[in-house]
Amino acid sequence: MPSTVKVFDTTLRDGEQSPGIALSCDDKVKIAQALSELGVDVIEAGFPVSSPGDQKAVKRIVDEGLNSRICGLARCSRKDVDAAIGCGLDYVHMFIATSDIHLQHKLKLTREAAKEKAVDAIEYARQHGLAVEFSCEDATRTELGFLKEMHQAVQDAGVEVINVPDTVGTIGPPAMQHLIRELMTVTKVPLSVHCHDDFGLAVANSHAAVRAGARQVHVTVNGLGERAGNAALDETVLGLMAFYEVGTNIDTRRIGPTSKLVSRLTGYAIPPTKAIVGANAFAHESGIHVHGVMGAPSTYEAFGPELVGVQRNIVMGKHSGAHSVRSKLSDYGIELGDAQIDQIVDKVKRLADSGKEVDDAELVALASHILGERESKKVKLKEFAVFTGMNTTPTAVVSIEVNGDRKTGSATGIGPVDAALNAIKSVMGNDIHLVEYRLNAITGGSDALCEVSVRVSKDGGKNLMSVGKAIGSDIVQTSVDSTMEALDRLYCRKE
Ligand code: KIV
Ligand code: ZN
Repeated sequence: MPSTVKVFDTTLRDGEQSPGIALSCDDKVKIAQALSELGVDVIEAGFPVSSPGDQKAVKRIVDEGLNSRICGLARCSRKDVDAAIGCGLDYVHMFIATSDIHLQHKLKLTREAAKEKAVDAIEYARQHGLAVEFSCEDATRTELGFLKEMHQAVQDAGVEVINVPDTVGTIGPPAMQHLIRELMTVTKVPLSVHCHDDFGLAVANSHAAVRAGARQVHVTVNGLGERAGNAALDETVLGLMAFYEVGTNIDTRRIGPTSKLVSRLTGYAIPPTKAIVGANAFAHESGIHVHGVMGAPSTYEAFGPELVGVQRNIVMGKHSGAHSVRSKLSDYGIELGDAQIDQIVDKVKRLADSGKEVDDAELVALASHILGERESKKVKLKEFAVFTGMNTTPTAVVSIEVNGDRKTGSATGIGPVDAALNAIKSVMGNDIHLVEYRLNAITGGSDALCEVSVRVSKDGGKNLMSVGKAIGSDIVQTSVDSTMEALDRLYCRKE
Protein backbone atom coordinates (compact mmCIF):
# COMPACT_ATOMS: atom_id res chain seq x y z
CA MET A 1 0.00 0.00 0.00
CA PRO A 2 1.43 3.46 -0.83
CA SER A 3 2.01 5.84 2.10
CA THR A 4 0.66 8.80 0.12
CA VAL A 5 -1.72 9.09 -2.82
CA LYS A 6 -2.45 11.84 -5.30
CA VAL A 7 -5.88 13.45 -5.40
CA PHE A 8 -7.25 14.05 -8.90
CA ASP A 9 -10.36 16.21 -8.62
CA THR A 10 -12.97 15.98 -11.37
CA THR A 11 -15.66 18.25 -9.89
CA LEU A 12 -15.38 20.56 -12.90
CA ARG A 13 -15.70 17.71 -15.41
CA ASP A 14 -17.53 14.59 -14.11
CA GLY A 15 -19.13 16.72 -11.36
CA GLU A 16 -20.38 19.23 -13.90
CA GLN A 17 -21.95 16.33 -15.81
CA SER A 18 -24.48 15.98 -12.93
CA PRO A 19 -27.94 16.73 -14.34
CA GLY A 20 -28.83 20.40 -14.17
CA ILE A 21 -25.36 21.77 -13.36
CA ALA A 22 -24.04 24.37 -15.77
CA LEU A 23 -21.37 26.51 -14.17
CA SER A 24 -20.39 29.87 -15.58
CA CYS A 25 -16.78 30.46 -16.55
CA ASP A 26 -16.25 32.73 -13.51
CA ASP A 27 -17.71 30.12 -11.17
CA LYS A 28 -15.43 27.44 -12.62
CA VAL A 29 -12.42 29.64 -12.01
CA LYS A 30 -13.56 30.25 -8.40
CA ILE A 31 -13.92 26.50 -7.83
CA ALA A 32 -10.53 25.79 -9.41
CA GLN A 33 -8.90 28.37 -7.13
CA ALA A 34 -10.57 26.78 -4.10
CA LEU A 35 -9.47 23.29 -5.19
CA SER A 36 -5.92 24.45 -5.60
CA GLU A 37 -5.96 26.00 -2.12
CA LEU A 38 -7.46 22.78 -0.79
CA GLY A 39 -4.36 21.02 -2.09
CA VAL A 40 -5.65 18.73 -4.84
CA ASP A 41 -2.79 17.49 -7.02
CA VAL A 42 -4.72 17.54 -10.31
CA ILE A 43 -7.79 19.51 -11.40
CA GLU A 44 -9.69 18.07 -14.34
CA ALA A 45 -10.94 21.44 -15.50
CA GLY A 46 -13.33 20.31 -18.25
CA PHE A 47 -13.79 18.55 -21.57
CA PRO A 48 -12.45 21.16 -24.03
CA VAL A 49 -13.91 19.74 -27.23
CA SER A 50 -17.41 19.44 -25.74
CA SER A 51 -18.32 23.14 -26.01
CA PRO A 52 -16.76 26.57 -26.60
CA GLY A 53 -17.75 27.40 -23.00
CA ASP A 54 -15.75 24.48 -21.63
CA GLN A 55 -12.80 25.41 -23.82
CA LYS A 56 -12.87 29.01 -22.58
CA ALA A 57 -13.13 27.96 -18.93
CA VAL A 58 -10.26 25.44 -19.20
CA LYS A 59 -8.11 28.11 -20.83
CA ARG A 60 -8.92 30.61 -18.07
CA ILE A 61 -8.07 28.04 -15.41
CA VAL A 62 -4.76 27.20 -17.12
CA ASP A 63 -3.93 30.93 -17.21
CA GLU A 64 -4.55 31.25 -13.45
CA GLY A 65 -1.18 29.56 -12.78
CA LEU A 66 -2.56 27.57 -9.85
CA ASN A 67 -0.51 25.19 -7.71
CA SER A 68 -2.53 22.17 -8.87
CA ARG A 69 -1.72 20.58 -12.19
CA ILE A 70 -4.48 21.23 -14.73
CA CYS A 71 -5.85 18.51 -16.96
CA GLY A 72 -8.57 18.28 -19.61
CA LEU A 73 -10.58 15.30 -20.84
CA ALA A 74 -10.28 14.07 -24.44
CA ARG A 75 -11.58 11.10 -26.40
CA CYS A 76 -9.08 9.19 -28.52
CA SER A 77 -9.30 11.54 -31.48
CA ARG A 78 -6.97 14.15 -32.93
CA LYS A 79 -9.78 16.73 -32.81
CA ASP A 80 -10.14 16.27 -29.04
CA VAL A 81 -6.38 16.46 -28.52
CA ASP A 82 -6.21 19.65 -30.63
CA ALA A 83 -8.95 21.21 -28.48
CA ALA A 84 -6.91 20.43 -25.36
CA ILE A 85 -3.78 21.93 -26.94
CA GLY A 86 -5.84 25.00 -27.88
CA CYS A 87 -6.50 25.60 -24.18
CA GLY A 88 -2.79 25.66 -23.36
CA LEU A 89 -2.97 22.33 -21.51
CA ASP A 90 0.09 20.16 -21.12
CA TYR A 91 -1.75 17.29 -19.44
CA VAL A 92 -4.66 15.42 -20.97
CA HIS A 93 -6.91 12.63 -19.66
CA MET A 94 -7.71 10.43 -22.67
CA PHE A 95 -10.21 7.61 -22.69
CA ILE A 96 -11.81 4.96 -24.85
CA ALA A 97 -14.42 2.40 -23.84
CA THR A 98 -13.11 -1.16 -23.71
CA SER A 99 -15.97 -3.33 -22.39
CA ASP A 100 -17.78 -5.43 -24.98
CA ILE A 101 -21.07 -3.72 -24.05
CA HIS A 102 -19.63 -0.33 -24.97
CA LEU A 103 -17.64 -1.55 -27.97
CA GLN A 104 -20.64 -3.28 -29.53
CA HIS A 105 -23.51 -0.97 -28.61
CA LYS A 106 -21.83 2.43 -28.44
CA LEU A 107 -18.58 2.60 -30.40
CA LYS A 108 -19.31 -0.20 -32.90
CA LEU A 109 -15.61 -1.07 -32.85
CA THR A 110 -13.72 -4.31 -32.48
CA ARG A 111 -11.33 -4.62 -29.55
CA GLU A 112 -8.37 -4.41 -31.95
CA ALA A 113 -9.71 -1.23 -33.58
CA ALA A 114 -10.24 0.39 -30.17
CA LYS A 115 -6.67 -0.43 -29.19
CA GLU A 116 -5.29 1.05 -32.43
CA LYS A 117 -7.38 4.18 -32.04
CA ALA A 118 -6.10 4.66 -28.48
CA VAL A 119 -2.46 4.16 -29.44
CA ASP A 120 -2.75 6.49 -32.44
CA ALA A 121 -4.30 9.30 -30.38
CA ILE A 122 -1.83 8.89 -27.50
CA GLU A 123 1.11 9.05 -29.93
CA TYR A 124 -0.38 12.19 -31.48
CA ALA A 125 -0.77 13.81 -28.04
CA ARG A 126 2.76 12.80 -27.03
CA GLN A 127 4.20 14.20 -30.29
CA HIS A 128 2.55 17.50 -29.37
CA GLY A 129 4.24 17.54 -25.98
CA LEU A 130 1.27 16.48 -23.85
CA ALA A 131 1.56 14.22 -20.81
CA VAL A 132 -1.24 11.64 -20.93
CA GLU A 133 -3.32 9.95 -18.27
CA PHE A 134 -5.30 7.14 -19.89
CA SER A 135 -8.62 5.48 -18.95
CA CYS A 136 -10.20 2.34 -20.35
CA GLU A 137 -13.79 3.45 -19.88
CA ASP A 138 -15.96 0.76 -18.21
CA ALA A 139 -12.73 -0.99 -17.16
CA THR A 140 -14.47 -2.93 -14.40
CA ARG A 141 -16.76 -4.62 -16.97
CA THR A 142 -13.96 -5.21 -19.49
CA GLU A 143 -12.69 -8.76 -20.01
CA LEU A 144 -9.52 -8.91 -17.88
CA GLY A 145 -7.25 -10.31 -20.60
CA PHE A 146 -8.17 -7.48 -22.99
CA LEU A 147 -7.90 -4.86 -20.25
CA LYS A 148 -4.33 -5.99 -19.55
CA GLU A 149 -3.58 -5.89 -23.28
CA MET A 150 -4.87 -2.30 -23.41
CA HIS A 151 -2.75 -1.30 -20.40
CA GLN A 152 0.35 -2.73 -22.06
CA ALA A 153 -0.38 -1.00 -25.35
CA VAL A 154 -1.07 2.44 -23.87
CA GLN A 155 1.95 2.38 -21.61
CA ASP A 156 4.12 1.42 -24.57
CA ALA A 157 2.65 4.47 -26.33
CA GLY A 158 3.96 6.64 -23.48
CA VAL A 159 1.18 7.40 -20.98
CA GLU A 160 2.16 8.70 -17.54
CA VAL A 161 -0.69 7.25 -15.45
CA ILE A 162 -3.39 4.66 -16.18
CA ASN A 163 -6.73 5.28 -14.52
CA VAL A 164 -9.22 2.47 -13.87
CA PRO A 165 -12.80 3.73 -14.11
CA ASP A 166 -15.67 1.88 -12.47
CA THR A 167 -17.89 3.73 -14.92
CA VAL A 168 -21.23 2.27 -13.86
CA GLY A 169 -20.34 1.69 -10.21
CA THR A 170 -20.81 -2.05 -10.48
CA ILE A 171 -17.78 -3.43 -8.66
CA GLY A 172 -17.38 -4.15 -4.92
CA PRO A 173 -14.29 -3.67 -2.73
CA PRO A 174 -12.93 -7.27 -2.81
CA ALA A 175 -13.22 -7.43 -6.61
CA MET A 176 -11.65 -3.98 -6.96
CA GLN A 177 -8.71 -5.10 -4.84
CA HIS A 178 -8.31 -8.20 -7.02
CA LEU A 179 -8.57 -6.18 -10.24
CA ILE A 180 -5.91 -3.64 -9.22
CA ARG A 181 -3.55 -6.43 -8.11
CA GLU A 182 -4.02 -8.16 -11.48
CA LEU A 183 -3.46 -4.95 -13.43
CA MET A 184 -0.33 -4.19 -11.44
CA THR A 185 1.24 -7.36 -12.83
CA VAL A 186 1.36 -5.73 -16.29
CA THR A 187 1.24 -1.99 -15.52
CA LYS A 188 4.53 -0.25 -14.87
CA VAL A 189 3.16 3.32 -14.65
CA PRO A 190 1.17 4.41 -11.56
CA LEU A 191 -2.45 3.25 -11.41
CA SER A 192 -5.31 5.55 -10.55
CA VAL A 193 -8.96 4.77 -9.78
CA HIS A 194 -12.22 6.51 -10.70
CA CYS A 195 -15.27 5.17 -8.87
CA HIS A 196 -18.96 5.90 -9.35
CA ASP A 197 -21.45 5.50 -6.54
CA ASP A 198 -24.30 3.52 -8.08
CA PHE A 199 -24.22 1.00 -5.19
CA GLY A 200 -23.00 3.55 -2.64
CA LEU A 201 -19.52 1.96 -2.76
CA ALA A 202 -17.46 4.59 -4.56
CA VAL A 203 -15.44 5.55 -1.48
CA ALA A 204 -15.01 1.96 -0.28
CA ASN A 205 -13.92 0.91 -3.77
CA SER A 206 -11.40 3.77 -3.96
CA HIS A 207 -9.98 2.67 -0.59
CA ALA A 208 -9.80 -0.95 -1.79
CA ALA A 209 -7.91 0.16 -4.90
CA VAL A 210 -5.39 2.11 -2.81
CA ARG A 211 -4.92 -0.86 -0.47
CA ALA A 212 -4.08 -2.91 -3.55
CA GLY A 213 -1.54 -0.37 -4.77
CA ALA A 214 -3.34 2.42 -6.69
CA ARG A 215 -1.44 5.67 -6.28
CA GLN A 216 -4.11 8.18 -7.24
CA VAL A 217 -7.86 8.62 -6.56
CA HIS A 218 -10.33 10.50 -8.73
CA VAL A 219 -12.84 12.36 -6.55
CA THR A 220 -15.36 15.18 -6.63
CA VAL A 221 -16.42 17.72 -4.03
CA ASN A 222 -19.68 16.64 -2.36
CA GLY A 223 -19.61 13.44 -4.45
CA LEU A 224 -21.05 15.21 -7.52
CA GLY A 225 -20.88 13.36 -10.84
CA GLU A 226 -22.81 11.31 -13.36
CA ARG A 227 -25.93 9.59 -11.89
CA ALA A 228 -25.21 8.74 -8.22
CA GLY A 229 -21.96 10.67 -8.46
CA ASN A 230 -18.28 9.95 -7.90
CA ALA A 231 -16.31 9.16 -4.77
CA ALA A 232 -16.59 12.18 -2.47
CA LEU A 233 -13.27 13.93 -1.90
CA ASP A 234 -13.79 14.46 1.83
CA GLU A 235 -14.84 10.89 2.63
CA THR A 236 -12.13 9.35 0.44
CA VAL A 237 -9.34 11.46 1.93
CA LEU A 238 -10.45 11.25 5.58
CA GLY A 239 -10.99 7.48 5.32
CA LEU A 240 -7.54 6.96 3.79
CA MET A 241 -6.01 8.91 6.67
CA ALA A 242 -8.07 7.33 9.43
CA PHE A 243 -8.17 3.69 8.40
CA TYR A 244 -4.99 3.13 6.41
CA GLU A 245 -2.67 6.00 7.44
CA VAL A 246 -2.40 7.01 3.79
CA GLY A 247 -1.65 10.72 3.42
CA THR A 248 -2.54 13.26 0.74
CA ASN A 249 -1.68 16.91 0.09
CA ILE A 250 -5.19 17.99 1.11
CA ASP A 251 -5.48 20.70 3.77
CA THR A 252 -8.43 19.06 5.53
CA ARG A 253 -9.44 22.33 7.24
CA ARG A 254 -10.46 23.68 3.85
CA ILE A 255 -12.85 20.79 3.17
CA GLY A 256 -15.90 22.43 4.77
CA PRO A 257 -15.55 25.85 3.08
CA THR A 258 -14.82 24.25 -0.32
CA SER A 259 -17.84 21.99 0.00
CA LYS A 260 -20.06 25.00 0.80
CA LEU A 261 -18.69 26.98 -2.13
CA VAL A 262 -19.33 24.13 -4.57
CA SER A 263 -22.83 23.59 -3.19
CA ARG A 264 -23.65 27.29 -3.54
CA LEU A 265 -22.26 27.64 -7.08
CA THR A 266 -23.74 24.40 -8.43
CA GLY A 267 -27.09 24.80 -6.66
CA TYR A 268 -26.73 21.18 -5.42
CA ALA A 269 -27.67 21.10 -1.73
CA ILE A 270 -25.56 18.93 0.57
CA PRO A 271 -27.79 16.23 2.11
CA PRO A 272 -27.99 16.92 5.88
CA THR A 273 -26.92 13.37 6.70
CA LYS A 274 -23.91 13.40 4.38
CA ALA A 275 -20.76 12.34 6.25
CA ILE A 276 -18.27 15.07 7.20
CA VAL A 277 -19.90 18.13 5.57
CA GLY A 278 -23.64 17.44 6.00
CA ALA A 279 -25.47 19.82 8.37
CA ASN A 280 -26.06 16.95 10.81
CA ALA A 281 -22.53 15.53 10.74
CA PHE A 282 -21.61 17.44 13.91
CA ALA A 283 -25.13 18.28 15.15
CA HIS A 284 -26.30 17.06 18.54
CA GLU A 285 -29.80 17.37 19.92
CA SER A 286 -30.42 14.81 22.63
CA GLY A 287 -29.54 15.88 26.16
CA ILE A 288 -27.42 12.75 26.69
CA HIS A 289 -25.32 13.37 23.58
CA VAL A 290 -24.91 17.10 24.23
CA HIS A 291 -23.82 16.39 27.79
CA GLY A 292 -21.31 13.81 26.51
CA VAL A 293 -19.93 16.03 23.77
CA MET A 294 -19.55 18.97 26.14
CA GLY A 295 -17.54 16.79 28.53
CA ALA A 296 -15.43 15.17 25.79
CA PRO A 297 -16.37 15.56 22.10
CA SER A 298 -14.97 12.12 21.33
CA THR A 299 -17.92 10.55 23.22
CA TYR A 300 -20.14 11.13 20.20
CA GLU A 301 -17.82 12.41 17.46
CA ALA A 302 -15.46 10.30 15.36
CA PHE A 303 -13.20 13.35 14.93
CA GLY A 304 -13.46 17.05 15.70
CA PRO A 305 -15.25 19.38 13.26
CA GLU A 306 -12.21 21.71 13.26
CA LEU A 307 -10.24 19.01 11.40
CA VAL A 308 -12.47 19.52 8.38
CA GLY A 309 -13.27 23.21 8.81
CA VAL A 310 -16.89 22.89 9.89
CA GLN A 311 -18.66 23.72 13.13
CA ARG A 312 -20.30 21.68 15.84
CA ASN A 313 -23.99 22.50 16.11
CA ILE A 314 -26.10 22.04 19.20
CA VAL A 315 -29.66 21.77 17.93
CA MET A 316 -32.74 22.60 19.98
CA GLY A 317 -35.58 20.11 19.99
CA LYS A 318 -37.72 17.92 22.19
CA HIS A 319 -34.66 15.96 23.33
CA SER A 320 -32.81 19.08 24.47
CA GLY A 321 -31.78 19.61 28.05
CA ALA A 322 -30.25 22.37 30.15
CA HIS A 323 -26.73 21.66 28.86
CA SER A 324 -27.78 22.28 25.27
CA VAL A 325 -29.64 25.48 26.04
CA ARG A 326 -26.87 26.88 28.21
CA SER A 327 -24.19 26.06 25.64
CA LYS A 328 -26.16 27.45 22.71
CA LEU A 329 -26.97 30.71 24.52
CA SER A 330 -23.37 31.14 25.58
CA ASP A 331 -22.44 31.18 21.86
CA TYR A 332 -24.45 34.42 21.74
CA GLY A 333 -22.89 35.76 24.94
CA ILE A 334 -26.04 35.12 26.99
CA GLU A 335 -25.51 33.66 30.46
CA LEU A 336 -28.58 32.74 32.52
CA GLY A 337 -29.23 31.23 35.96
CA ASP A 338 -30.47 27.64 36.44
CA ALA A 339 -34.09 28.63 36.98
CA GLN A 340 -34.15 30.73 33.81
CA ILE A 341 -32.51 27.94 31.80
CA ASP A 342 -35.13 25.47 33.09
CA GLN A 343 -37.87 27.86 32.00
CA ILE A 344 -36.38 27.97 28.50
CA VAL A 345 -35.90 24.18 28.31
CA ASP A 346 -39.54 23.74 29.20
CA LYS A 347 -40.64 26.19 26.53
CA VAL A 348 -38.33 24.62 23.89
CA LYS A 349 -39.74 21.15 24.58
CA ARG A 350 -43.31 22.41 24.35
CA LEU A 351 -42.62 24.24 21.09
CA ALA A 352 -40.81 21.21 19.63
CA ASP A 353 -43.65 18.88 20.69
CA SER A 354 -46.08 21.08 18.81
CA GLY A 355 -43.92 20.63 15.68
CA LYS A 356 -42.25 24.03 15.73
CA GLU A 357 -38.57 24.30 14.88
CA VAL A 358 -36.65 26.21 17.54
CA ASP A 359 -33.72 27.74 15.72
CA ASP A 360 -31.07 30.02 17.17
CA ALA A 361 -33.12 33.15 16.53
CA GLU A 362 -36.14 31.71 18.39
CA LEU A 363 -33.97 30.59 21.28
CA VAL A 364 -32.28 33.97 21.63
CA ALA A 365 -35.70 35.64 21.43
CA LEU A 366 -36.95 33.42 24.27
CA ALA A 367 -33.90 34.32 26.36
CA SER A 368 -34.28 38.05 25.61
CA HIS A 369 -37.92 37.83 26.65
CA ILE A 370 -37.02 36.17 29.94
CA LEU A 371 -34.33 38.76 30.53
CA GLY A 372 -36.80 41.53 29.69
CA GLU A 373 -34.34 42.92 27.15
CA ARG A 374 -34.71 45.07 24.11
CA GLU A 375 -37.48 47.39 25.14
CA SER A 376 -35.82 50.31 23.44
CA LYS A 377 -34.05 49.74 20.14
CA LYS A 378 -30.46 50.93 19.90
CA VAL A 379 -30.11 50.29 16.18
CA LYS A 380 -32.96 51.66 14.08
CA LEU A 381 -33.44 51.61 10.32
CA LYS A 382 -34.52 55.08 9.24
CA GLU A 383 -34.38 54.88 5.45
CA PHE A 384 -33.73 52.19 2.93
CA ALA A 385 -33.81 52.08 -0.88
CA VAL A 386 -32.46 49.64 -3.43
CA PHE A 387 -32.10 50.09 -7.20
CA THR A 388 -31.90 47.12 -9.48
CA GLY A 389 -32.82 46.11 -13.02
CA MET A 390 -31.31 44.92 -16.26
CA ASN A 391 -27.85 46.18 -17.22
CA THR A 392 -27.65 47.99 -13.91
CA THR A 393 -25.43 47.27 -10.92
CA PRO A 394 -27.69 46.66 -7.92
CA THR A 395 -27.14 49.56 -5.51
CA ALA A 396 -28.59 50.19 -2.04
CA VAL A 397 -28.71 53.19 0.28
CA VAL A 398 -29.45 52.92 4.00
CA SER A 399 -29.74 55.37 6.81
CA ILE A 400 -29.38 53.87 10.29
CA GLU A 401 -29.56 55.40 13.76
CA VAL A 402 -27.09 53.84 16.19
CA ASN A 403 -27.49 54.98 19.81
CA GLY A 404 -29.12 58.17 18.54
CA ASP A 405 -26.45 58.93 15.87
CA ARG A 406 -27.68 58.82 12.32
CA LYS A 407 -25.39 57.50 9.60
CA THR A 408 -25.98 56.97 5.90
CA GLY A 409 -24.15 54.65 3.55
CA SER A 410 -24.46 53.03 0.15
CA ALA A 411 -23.00 50.02 -1.61
CA THR A 412 -23.34 47.84 -4.67
CA GLY A 413 -23.69 44.07 -4.74
CA ILE A 414 -24.15 40.98 -6.89
CA GLY A 415 -27.91 41.27 -6.39
CA PRO A 416 -30.25 43.58 -4.44
CA VAL A 417 -29.95 41.57 -1.20
CA ASP A 418 -26.17 41.62 -1.41
CA ALA A 419 -26.22 45.37 -2.13
CA ALA A 420 -28.54 46.02 0.83
CA LEU A 421 -26.43 43.98 3.25
CA ASN A 422 -23.23 45.63 1.96
CA ALA A 423 -24.80 49.06 2.51
CA ILE A 424 -25.67 48.13 6.11
CA LYS A 425 -22.09 46.94 6.59
CA SER A 426 -20.75 50.21 5.20
CA VAL A 427 -22.64 52.05 7.95
CA MET A 428 -22.04 49.63 10.81
CA GLY A 429 -18.32 49.07 10.14
CA ASN A 430 -16.16 46.44 8.56
CA ASP A 431 -15.79 44.50 11.78
CA ILE A 432 -19.39 43.31 11.39
CA HIS A 433 -19.50 40.00 9.55
CA LEU A 434 -22.44 38.16 8.11
CA VAL A 435 -21.72 34.63 9.32
CA GLU A 436 -24.83 32.95 7.95
CA TYR A 437 -27.78 33.91 5.77
CA ARG A 438 -30.72 31.56 5.36
CA LEU A 439 -33.76 32.10 3.19
CA ASN A 440 -36.82 29.86 3.30
CA ALA A 441 -39.98 30.19 1.27
CA ILE A 442 -42.94 29.72 3.61
CA THR A 443 -45.69 29.80 1.01
CA GLY A 444 -45.65 29.33 -2.76
CA GLY A 445 -46.29 31.74 -5.65
CA SER A 446 -44.71 35.03 -6.66
CA ASP A 447 -46.24 36.73 -3.58
CA ALA A 448 -44.88 34.00 -1.28
CA LEU A 449 -43.96 34.77 2.28
CA CYS A 450 -40.31 34.21 3.01
CA GLU A 451 -38.39 33.81 6.21
CA VAL A 452 -34.84 35.12 6.48
CA SER A 453 -32.50 34.24 9.36
CA VAL A 454 -29.09 35.81 9.69
CA ARG A 455 -26.21 35.36 12.07
CA VAL A 456 -23.78 38.25 12.46
CA SER A 457 -20.60 38.59 14.47
CA LYS A 458 -18.42 41.48 15.46
CA ASP A 459 -14.71 41.03 14.75
CA GLY A 460 -15.45 37.34 14.20
CA GLY A 461 -15.60 37.12 18.03
CA LYS A 462 -17.48 34.10 19.34
CA ASN A 463 -18.91 36.04 22.25
CA LEU A 464 -20.16 38.79 20.03
CA MET A 465 -22.46 36.74 17.90
CA SER A 466 -26.07 37.58 17.26
CA VAL A 467 -29.06 36.33 15.31
CA GLY A 468 -32.10 37.89 13.74
CA LYS A 469 -35.09 36.56 11.92
CA ALA A 470 -37.87 38.21 9.95
CA ILE A 471 -40.81 37.16 7.84
CA GLY A 472 -42.20 39.14 4.91
CA SER A 473 -43.17 39.02 1.28
CA ASP A 474 -40.28 41.14 -0.01
CA ILE A 475 -36.99 39.23 0.12
CA VAL A 476 -34.84 42.35 0.17
CA GLN A 477 -36.80 44.14 2.90
CA THR A 478 -37.05 40.93 4.94
CA SER A 479 -33.30 40.40 4.65
CA VAL A 480 -32.72 43.95 5.86
CA ASP A 481 -35.20 43.53 8.75
CA SER A 482 -33.57 40.32 9.98
CA THR A 483 -30.11 41.87 9.79
CA MET A 484 -31.28 44.96 11.68
CA GLU A 485 -32.74 42.73 14.39
CA ALA A 486 -29.45 40.84 14.74
CA LEU A 487 -27.48 44.10 14.90
CA ASP A 488 -29.83 45.64 17.44
CA ARG A 489 -29.41 42.55 19.66
CA LEU A 490 -25.66 42.82 19.32
CA TYR A 491 -25.68 46.47 20.39
CA CYS A 492 -28.18 45.93 23.22
CA ARG A 493 -25.84 43.34 24.68
CA LYS A 494 -22.60 45.15 24.01
CA GLU A 495 -22.84 47.64 26.85
O1 KIV B 1 -16.72 7.24 -15.47
C1 KIV B 1 -15.95 7.22 -16.43
O2 KIV B 1 -15.67 6.19 -17.04
C2 KIV B 1 -15.40 8.50 -16.87
C3 KIV B 1 -14.39 8.43 -17.97
C4 KIV B 1 -14.43 9.60 -18.84
C5 KIV B 1 -13.05 8.19 -17.38
O3 KIV B 1 -15.72 9.52 -16.33
ZN1 ZN C 1 -16.85 9.12 -14.46
